[in-house]
Amino acid sequence: MKDTFDLIIFGGTGDLAVRKLLPALYHLDREGQFTGESRIISLSRRDFSHDDYLRFVLDGLKRYIPESRFNQEHWPCFAGKLHFLRLDAASQSNWECLRMLVNEHPGRVRVFYLAVSPDLYGPTCAGLSGNDLVNRQTRIVLEKPIGFNLASAQLLNNQVGQVFSEQQIFRIDHYLGKETVQNLLALRFANSLFEPLWRGHYIDHVQITVAEDIGIGSRGRFYDTTGALRDMVQNHLLQLLCLVAMEAPVNLEQDEIRNEKLKVLTALRPIVKDVIKDKTVRGQYIGGAVSGKVVPAYLDDLDKTTESETETFVALKVEIDNWRWANVPFYLRTGKRMTEKRSEIVVQFTPVPHLIFSTAEQLIPNHLIMRLQPDEGIKLMLMTKRPRTGGFHLHPLPLNLSFAQAFQMDYPDAYERLLMDIILGNPALFMRGDEVEIAWTWIDNIIDGWHRTKIRPENYMAGTWGPAGSDVLIGRDKRAWYNHPI
Ligand code: BG6
Repeated sequence: MKDTFDLIIFGGTGDLAVRKLLPALYHLDREGQFTGESRIISLSRRDFSHDDYLRFVLDGLKRYIPESRFNQEHWPCFAGKLHFLRLDAASQSNWECLRMLVNEHPGRVRVFYLAVSPDLYGPTCAGLSGNDLVNRQTRIVLEKPIGFNLASAQLLNNQVGQVFSEQQIFRIDHYLGKETVQNLLALRFANSLFEPLWRGHYIDHVQITVAEDIGIGSRGRFYDTTGALRDMVQNHLLQLLCLVAMEAPVNLEQDEIRNEKLKVLTALRPIVKDVIKDKTVRGQYIGGAVSGKVVPAYLDDLDKTTESETETFVALKVEIDNWRWANVPFYLRTGKRMTEKRSEIVVQFTPVPHLIFSTAEQLIPNHLIMRLQPDEGIKLMLMTKRPRTGGFHLHPLPLNLSFAQAFQMDYPDAYERLLMDIILGNPALFMRGDEVEIAWTWIDNIIDGWHRTKIRPENYMAGTWGPAGSDVLIGRDKRAWYNHPI
């Protein structure tokens, strides 16, 4: 049975609401997932009338939903669920109006979505509590970044925790809402094939790449105080690493996955000052060409004349100190303005222990490539014998599974899945407070090491796979990045 809910969006006219939340809500509503009485209440400081707001949302939907997925006929039904209220979370005015509106239905599931800057989390939670808007049916949604380091994350967790219990708090990492990321769970735990091999004895190393071709767009001010390590590694890449490395959870309920992820985060070997040069690389893009288009340097994107030491690329060698992963390095890298947009996980298996073929060709170790985006799918590289050749001429060939072809459907946006889970009250795909804090503890060590050793970002040309140091980092272990689909 579907629950009737009130979803209240703080920052209802902001970028996140327009680009992600409202399109996702529109799709869910169009699929019939919402009851007719459910309400989406957008809050913003903008001086909109109800009609202005509807026009604003319709424009946004047309801009951000592909034409083939937008159905004008459904618009009146969706518009009927939209409400707009002018409210400044930092001031006291208009909270009373919100209270009256929301308390028209005191028994409903009530979700407050904070699509606002994290410095408003504390005042907003205080406002919700002070205006009697929180009950047991209430949930609160926080977007990343949850803090800037351990201390600020603890402060935010405490501020929110004064009003909401941990079960009521949904911290979003949108990577966990991606179908292909959840497919990792299916691959590992719905198949028995890989589990016996999923350990140090059979796996040589793991690579996790989240490459983007875009630059920093209009987010220069935010990005320059953040950098790739905080923006991407602290959350998305560490979450991917956890899903690859964790033990099987007992089930998918509530805290089971989160408990297993926490154990992995706890086992990450700290990267301290003494090893920082061997295990980390920072990069910053200079002008170049991406997909044949000339693009400026990071500093020009920032429109600054002064220097910036913010990294737009980072590569790490990560070790996990537990039985399963002893001596199996995980190489992580992410960056802006790289050759192409590609997120994938490559698991490279160990070479055969003894070679029986007297062949000139080099044996390529098996590897499993999990393509998260684009071209979602799974590829397993195997060695085969080339036909019609005397003796054994060996050749690597892929077993290639494309999800788009197999399922004949478009993938939904991550926010569709996550919003539905919030409304249904299922927190499994959201980050728990302790996970966030332990991830920050590990990241803070690296940042501290960078400061102490004064490591500056190395330049890389836009449109490449990052700075030379990234190849050196993995090359030191006689390994190489998978840069090209084989
Ligand atoms: C966000 C980062 O969390 O993820 C952005 O803040 C980044 O800098 C984005 O561009 C990448 O998400 P996706 O879904 O496009 O891979």
